Amino acid sequence: MSFAIALHAIAAVIWVGGMAFAFFALRPVVAQRLGNQRRLSLWLQVMQRFFMMVWASMIVLFATGYWIVFQVYGGFDRTGLHVHLMHGLALVMAALFLYVWFGPYRRLARAVTSKEWTAGGAALAAIRRTVAVNLGLGIVVVALGSGGQYF
Ligand code: HEM
Repeated sequence: MSFAIALHAIAAVIWVGGMAFAFFALRPVVAQRLGNQRRLSLWLQVMQRFFMMVWASMIVLFATGYWIVFQVYGGFDRTGLHVHLMHGLALVMAALFLYVWFGPYRRLARAVTSKEWTAGGAALAAIRRTVAVNLGLGIVVVALGSGGQYF
């Protein structure tokens, strides 16, 4: 249990913390200092690395989450409401990440390769909106996961 919960917490920190850093620290500086072309190329390269970390974190979160639910608690009917909420919101977060991965992220990569900067800007704006939603959900899920058992 301690190993699984430690892995679970590390993966949560990487995914949610990474989104917070990108959204609140990197995004405003890049927007202020770089022109459209360099901004889009930079974000594409940042995402190529960060999204690999998100894939790994997501797999670890679901694997350890289900392991704790089924091996430690003995199924979802024996867990608290906070675990049900965490599970539901985590599914929404995973769906939104898959939407970004297969939709606007692909479009951004194509646009940067073919130097279609207007299309790239639209794709990046869609990613930014979706990441803002996922960051909000992620903060709620972390609060549920860590504080839920004390409610
Ligand atoms: C975005 C995805 C998720 C995030 C950010 C997240 C975050 C967290 C955090 C921060 C904790 C507290 C860890 C600690 O006590 O140090 C936790 C606990 C837990 N999580 Fe998640 N989690 C996610 C997805 C899931 C999923 C998909 C499941 C189940 C399928 C799950 C099941 C659990 C369980 C069972 C606990 C222990 C709660 C308790 O014993 O009261 N989590 N989670």
